[in-house]
Amino acid sequence: MCGIIGFTGKLEAQEILLEGLEKLEYRGYDSAGIAYFKENGSISIRKTAGKVKDLRAICDENTATCGIGHTRWATHGGVTNANAHPHKCGNVALIHNGIIENYHELVATYDLEKDLISETDTEVAAALFNKFYDGENPIAAIQKVVPLLKGSFAFCIIFKNNPDMIYAVRNVSPMVAATCKDGSFIASDLTAFIQYSKKYFIVPEYAILTMSKEGISLQELDGTPIEPEFLEVNWDITAAQKDGYPTFMLKEINEQPAAITRTIAPRIHNGLPDFSADNIPESLFENCHDITIIACGTAMYAGMVGKTLIQDFLGIPVTVAIASEFRYEKPVITEDSLVIVVSQSGETIDTLEALRLAKTKTAKTLAIVNVKGSSIARESNYVLYTHAGPEIAVASTKAYTVQTAAFYLIACKLGLVQNKLTKTEALEFIQNLQNVSDNIAEILKLSANIEELTKRMLNATDTFFIGRGLDYTLSMEGALKLKEISYIHAEAYAAGELKHGTIALISEGVPVIALATQGHVYSKVISNIREVKARGAYVILLSMEENVTDASICDVHIPLPKVPDQFAIFEAVVVLQMIAYYTSTGKGLNADQPRNLAKSVTVE
Ligand code: AGP
Repeated sequence: MCGIIGFTGKLEAQEILLEGLEKLEYRGYDSAGIAYFKENGSISIRKTAGKVKDLRAICDENTATCGIGHTRWATHGGVTNANAHPHKCGNVALIHNGIIENYHELVATYDLEKDLISETDTEVAAALFNKFYDGENPIAAIQKVVPLLKGSFAFCIIFKNNPDMIYAVRNVSPMVAATCKDGSFIASDLTAFIQYSKKYFIVPEYAILTMSKEGISLQELDGTPIEPEFLEVNWDITAAQKDGYPTFMLKEINEQPAAITRTIAPRIHNGLPDFSADNIPESLFENCHDITIIACGTAMYAGMVGKTLIQDFLGIPVTVAIASEFRYEKPVITEDSLVIVVSQSGETIDTLEALRLAKTKTAKTLAIVNVKGSSIARESNYVLYTHAGPEIAVASTKAYTVQTAAFYLIACKLGLVQNKLTKTEALEFIQNLQNVSDNIAEILKLSANIEELTKRMLNATDTFFIGRGLDYTLSMEGALKLKEISYIHAEAYAAGELKHGTIALISEGVPVIALATQGHVYSKVISNIREVKARGAYVILLSMEENVTDASICDVHIPLPKVPDQFAIFEAVVVLQMIAYYTSTGKGLNADQPRNLAKSVTVE
């Protein structure tokens, strides 16, 4: 998604903007630009398709102390210099994250066509602000334009004749702001300016933010002043840096033991799950008749694990909904339904809108979110924060494992309050969960072996991930990881389903990653594996068996530490993450910023 940064203060702005954009690169983008006030008060713009380094190459020395910067993830219009932000029209320059859904109507209604040179919805907004800007009063222009807009937006705007001032307004798309002795900052997310200030606030929706060298003020569209609600960052800049790893993704894979411990420890009291510190009441779990889990991508696959665990383990009906589908279905949700939304960023628009729909049917909404103060966290009735720290790589790894761990805590709490688990069973369950971090630490030692075996994957065009039960849910995440960073087509399949069609795709050398950690279906999975092996598949088997050397079953066996079946998923997923990672790097690809993808999908 687009990255936004703005600064005004005592320091020279250009380097702050460029460095900020470099810190926002992880969000995924295809062009970049900055705008700043020159000494004579005019507005200068530098922008280009390409990376921040390409933007740097066209920037010239200047001492401007107020400016805005943007990295664009193309939605409307191709990747061109003209479509890059900032967009300038007359006396206004602005940057934008979001989609103005009614921009065609606005062009027609306000006769803006003549003012436009790009293909973007954003430039239409710039033309509209310019049309309503009288050359003196930016607030008045904003008050007139914002009610005309439909869709999501986070704007940073600078107006001629108002040097050193930045104005901002948002709806749905995220924006945070901070002020310190050096000046004031605004950005899509904290990573852009965290080294300057650990105190920040979420820009309220539809509030007009005015940023000057003296500080920041907020007002409603009608002019009513608003006090910012300041938050304290719970991580430092090093957490958002690579700490010696070649990529953020490898760092985050290796952070998983600590991330899980940070997430579960505050929710375990006397060996049992305890959400009192999260202000999540027992009643939320006592009366929940059924559960709907809503998310996208990896977060949804964590939800699939939660479903399998809760439904099979406790006999409570659980539905997992793809957020973008849920919004247009007729969901069967009653006031006794518990809705759990899962999101690392807390800003995924499909999940946020699905939450809003769910809230019209039940007050029992619980968010599992990694970013403090994010939209989904703020709009849910209850929130269980995961403490993975900032996840910078586009491919989600530690967020998946901490989300899954959160579901294990929830499952245990549900079992206890609904008398489906004895206290002894719950104590054992939680002890097994607490052991997960050590189990993962053992798996991380296999990285060299896994890097070696992925050499066999580099030229693959199709791969399959197969398993049953929890292994089947895990295979979905494994397939997504491989697809999104190695660009190899991968498909997850219920092992028992292969023979109903898909096995036709198995030919000599096709890689099949087979997951066989669930004892109650182990022999069945082995039979399914033999079926693909017999047709020439190259099988990588993950199981807790000592050492499988039978060539009719697999080519490579990765033995996992013996743990109770329900907890094998944590160690197995780390193997799958490393398979995807080393396949990607083995192909010379950028595992942190895969093509076409963004870290947080804040547009529909
Ligand atoms: C996962 O590796 C992807 N980056 C993507 O599927 C992601 O999980 C999905 O977009 C949901 O993001 P969220 O957790 O921030 O809502």
